[in-house]
Amino acid sequence: MTAGGDGFAAVAGGPALHIPVLGRPALDFLNVHDGGIYIDATFGAGGYARAILAAADCKVIGIDRDQTAIALGADLVQAANGRLTLIEDRFSNLDAVAHSCGHQAVNGVVLDLGVSSMQLDQAERGFSFRLDGPLDMRMGHDGPNAADVVNAAAERDLANIVFILGEERHSRAVARAIVKARAQAPIRTTRALADIVAAVVRSRPGDIHPATRTFQALRIFVNDELGELVAALTAAERILRPQGRLVVVSFHSLEDRIVKTFLIGRGETRAGSRHAPELKAPPPTFRVLTKRPVVADADELAHNPRARSAKLRAAQRCEAPARDEQASDLLPRLPALADIVKGH
Ligand SMILES: C[S@@+](CC[C@H](N)C(=O)[O-])C[C@H]1O[C@@H](n2cnc3c(N)ncnc32)[C@H](O)[C@@H]1O
Repeated sequence: MTAGGDGFAAVAGGPALHIPVLGRPALDFLNVHDGGIYIDATFGAGGYARAILAAADCKVIGIDRDQTAIALGADLVQAANGRLTLIEDRFSNLDAVAHSCGHQAVNGVVLDLGVSSMQLDQAERGFSFRLDGPLDMRMGHDGPNAADVVNAAAERDLANIVFILGEERHSRAVARAIVKARAQAPIRTTRALADIVAAVVRSRPGDIHPATRTFQALRIFVNDELGELVAALTAAERILRPQGRLVVVSFHSLEDRIVKTFLIGRGETRAGSRHAPELKAPPPTFRVLTKRPVVADADELAHNPRARSAKLRAAQRCEAPARDEQASDLLPRLPALADIVKGH
């Protein structure tokens, strides 16, 4: 990696509103070089984008679905002197975003999944069970929110969402308690929901907060986080040039499993079946660079507790054309958000 061009000092500095997780290995796997085009598909507070811009005389397209994150990045755009473009969009559209910026192919795509500390720490965004605020949880600013789901979903759907996306063993009790509470009055705040869940999910001292898993499930559902991830992986496959790098940092097992399974599938050459042996096996589109996921070292863990559950996987794009299939078989079976809130 080489030192960056103009604006290096300004771009490397600036306030850190969110400590980037696994920033160093992410940058190394991206293989940032002069003249390269990189997509930071989860711009957030710009920690990754800032590091990429500082590492070489390259260009970065930053994407975030949160207009607040995009607006806060304005200073960095200015300091980067034409090398950073910020776009408010969902990362499932990352290939279309690159096209709209005039690039038919890019050298690297990085995804640092989940919510940022800025989002978690603002009570009015409704992500945190520790802060009282409206039960919102949307990373963007449109579409149904968590209160819409909690107040409209059938008990069975609620239980499935909380079980599958939150891996909550007490999902049925949680769903039952929510349905009972909302019969009295709609559930509108994070505190109200946290109290309802805490009354039915027991926790021992030292355990995570009893509402952690339910909040995680609702956040993933409201933002269609897994659907977005699968679509982003196939979009990255389409937009990366040969030798281009894909780097994904995930924070829970559902995401990591999707990334791992996608990369294994795309790294395989599948033979034709016994019934159709003449079928030509498609060549691999990715070569996996991380046999095991990279995790934070003791030093990073000491400084950033958020890094505890982070796992990084990286792969290099091969020459073969992107595959046609959408990989939606990697998604859990759940009703669509629009169907859950229909008529509410
Ligand atoms: C963990 S933060 C990224 C932090 C960033 N790497 C940094 O160093 O500051 C995740 C960001 O991704 C955004 N995000 C999550 N899902 C998204 C999606 N489907 N499309 C676009 N942005 C998304 C969130 O709004 C949030 O700002």
